[in-house]
Formats: sequence, structure tokens, C-alpha cells
Amino acid sequence: MERSTSGTGDGRRTRPAAHELARYEALFAARTRGMKSSAMREMMALTERPDVISLAGGLPDTSTFAPALYAKLMGDVAAESTARALQYGPTEGMEATVRCIVEVMAAEGTQIDPSEVIVTTGGQQVIDLVCKTLIDPGDVIVAEAPTYPGAVPTFSAYQAQVEQIEMDGDGMPIDALESTLDNLQAQGKRPKFIYTIPNFQNPGGVTMSLARRRRLIEVARERELLVLEDNPYGLLRYEGEPLPTLYALDAEAVGRGRASDLVIYLGTFSKILSPGLRLGWAVAPRPVLEKLNLGKQGADLCSSPVTQMFVAAYFNERSAGDAPAWREYVDRLKDLYRGRRDVMLEALAEHFGEGARWTTPQGGLFIWATLDDRIDTTDLLALARKSEGVAFVPGRAAYVDGRSGSCSMRLNFAGVADDDIREGVRRIGKAMRAQLGLLGSLTGSFPAAGSSEPAGTAEPASTEAGDVRLADVVALPFRGETAEKRRRRDR
Ligand SMILES: Cc1ncc(COP(=O)(O)O)c(C=O)c1O
Repeated sequence: MERSTSGTGDGRRTRPAAHELARYEALFAARTRGMKSSAMREMMALTERPDVISLAGGLPDTSTFAPALYAKLMGDVAAESTARALQYGPTEGMEATVRCIVEVMAAEGTQIDPSEVIVTTGGQQVIDLVCKTLIDPGDVIVAEAPTYPGAVPTFSAYQAQVEQIEMDGDGMPIDALESTLDNLQAQGKRPKFIYTIPNFQNPGGVTMSLARRRRLIEVARERELLVLEDNPYGLLRYEGEPLPTLYALDAEAVGRGRASDLVIYLGTFSKILSPGLRLGWAVAPRPVLEKLNLGKQGADLCSSPVTQMFVAAYFNERSAGDAPAWREYVDRLKDLYRGRRDVMLEALAEHFGEGARWTTPQGGLFIWATLDDRIDTTDLLALARKSEGVAFVPGRAAYVDGRSGSCSMRLNFAGVADDDIREGVRRIGKAMRAQLGLLGSLTGSFPAAGSSEPAGTAEPASTEAGDVRLADVVALPFRGETAEKRRRRDR
């Protein structure tokens, strides 16, 4: 077959044009129709561009890792274990890496049985494998609203029906969960699992309270439901007392010395060490673990032994005071990210105005901001990128229906220097006011673009009329713009 290329000639890739796709259409499996491009894919491309301040990524700050230590550890792995590092490894992961995972889980106050761990290619692979193992088309997953934008395309690809439960400041309200479960039961449906990110939720920035954690486990046990606990950020707590994992609470409910039998735990080295390693893990009840292992064999056979051995070497490192070096590094990250969170909170107060509100996370990487409800952040992103050179994740990316969350956005503070945080938030505030001005000038009832009024203080316009006309005026890169058009525009 002759290959048509959709590159831009400079190495950047664009989506194939409709006529290119048409040729292959009949070959694609039905599930590909449900596959959506993750907002993250677009965002990763943006983070590569030096002219854009991206508050969009889920990025930790990898520049904080000492280059000399990285070189030494990689050198040690290369010199001492060349053949093993370059060889395939066991699907469940290397023993030395599993020992590191046991150590990280213990730091989270959670005891686990090493034989119930599988090392994966990032936490993302756990989400994929859990869906591969449990989800037939039409099966139900219950998730938080908003939910992790990177899980949305995975749930869609497996053709799950996702019921999202709106969170408040204490995470997922369990009474709302129970009524959703009752409704589903009345329709003869039982969710395959409940998906939750209890700590410093991505993207919501909120943490599930202890009372809700306990109640969630009670509900799961009463109804025999699996819970997928996604916990990349638990150790990145900047204030407040650590809370027990759902895994630990369930293990406690099962009985002394026994493992949880309903919680599948997802962990990752991405946020406490490096996402470039692509190493995460799952801890799961044995029968589930067995299926995850089979699913992983079909996906990638094993996760990289090179990076697994790097982690094992790193966890042997001691700091000057003989503490584990990885713990000290996490402490440094916490100090850095706490400061950046505070810078972002200050900048939001200065530039977003009274019509907006946002979460104050006790840890993690993200703030969730909700704007004046006349603003659609997908449209705003197009404007912000084009005229201000700044990016964020629009709220719709965190909803499986692709419609809800339209006036919210996720902002990353952890991977961005203080000055860029201030400047980025200032630019979004400016784009926001321009957007409202544009809306007003279209409806004839609003201050003109460039008004220095904060968003919330402007005169209200008709939301309906505004939304429709706004969509005509502002470029919408994620809703059907062709590759060719985008290429021309981006030149
Ligand atoms: C909630 C959540 N789960 C899973 C992941 C996947 O992380 P990774 O595949 O890098 O381990 C992320 C990354 O941002 C996340 O925020």
C-alpha cells in the first residue's frame, strides 16, 4: 500500500485528513469509533513548543533530579548488569523493583503482599489492563466527575458506560454513589468497578475525606463491588494529615494480616521520581492479578528491565544523613510544589476575578478552576493558545460525555516555574476577558474586548445566544478542524 504522510515536514504530526481515513475506514474495528483523542495527546505536543506557556500537562518537574545521580545510576546498571538490563524480564516485574514498590506502599501506610503486585508500563497501563480484564461493551464503570482526563479515552475505547458522580470539597459523595448504584440496580446493571482518585484528585484537586473512604469501603463490601484506587499523588502532600488508602481500609475490613479483596490499587513512579521511566504497578486480588498478567503479556510482555533496574539502584541510594535518597527527593519535590501551588493561588486571585472559583489542593499537581458559566473553556483554549500563547486542559476532557465541565479548566502548577505560572495565569485571565468581550459584542450586551473588568463583574449576556455565536467565531481545534486547516493556521 502506498503510504500517505500527514506530517508537517518538520517532524510534527498532524491528524490524517478525512480523505486519507476513508480509504481505511472499512478495516477499523467497531471499538475504534468510540476512541477519542485524549486532550492529553494535544497537550503533550504543546509542551514541546517553547513559545507556549503550558499549564496543561500533568508534568512533574524532572529538572529537579540531579543529572550526576542519573548518570551514575544508569552507568551502574550498564556496567554491572548489561545482559539482564538488555534482556526481557518477567511479566509481573523484577523482584528488586517489587521490593521498591513495597517500600513506597509502606510509606503510604499500606502493607502489601509482594506476590500480589504486577509492575506495569506506567499507571496508565493499569487502567487499560483493568478495562481489558473487566469491561465488555456496555459494562458500567462509576467514576468521579470530573475524572482523570487520561482515563476517559481508555473507558471510551472499551465501550464502557461511565456514570460520573459530581464531587464536592470532600471528594465523591457516597450518598450520591449509593443512589446511582440503586438506579443502576433497578435497570439490572451492576458496575464492574468504581474508579476513584482519593488523594488530590486529577483534575479536581480535592481529597476524599476519611469518613467517605470508610463509607465507600462499606458500600463496596455490602454490594460486592470492585474499587480501582488510582493513587499517583498520595506522597505529594503539602499540608494536612495523610489519610489511609482505600486498599488499607479494605484490608482492615477483611481481617488481620489479610490483603484487600475488593480494591485494585494503582501506583506509579511517575510523580515521585520520573514519568520517563514509564513504570507503575497494580496490587490486586490474586484472581484479578492473574488476568492482568495475561492481559499484559498480550500488550507488551514486560515493562522495561532497564528502567526497573534503574529504580532498584535508586532505592538503594542513601542521603548524607543515611535516609533513603528517594524519600529526601520526595521531600524536596513537596517543598517546591507547595511553593508553586501558592504562587498559582495568588495569581488566580489577582487575574481571574470574582466570577471564577477554584480548588485549593492539599497536594498533587493540579488546581481545578471554574469560570463564569458563559465561558466555554474549549473555545477559550483556542483563543488563549492563538492570541496569548498559553494552554490549559479544558474541563470537557474530564467528562466522558464530552459536554459537561465546559466552564472549568485544569491547571498544572508543579511542572512550571513561578514566573511562568504568574504570566500564564495572567494571559488566561486576559483571554477570558477578551472572550467575554467578544461574546458581549456579538450579543450587543457586553463590554468590548480588552475591557479590564474582571470576568465576574461584567454584565450578563444570554448564555444560549452567546454559546452558539461564540462557536462560530472562535477556532475550535478539537472539534472537527481538519489537519490541513490546522497546519495552515499553525504555520
Ligand atoms: C490519576 C492518574 N492516574 C494515572 C496516571 C498515569 O500515570 P503514569 O502512566 O505516568 O504512571 C496519571 C498521570 O498523570 C494520573 O494523574
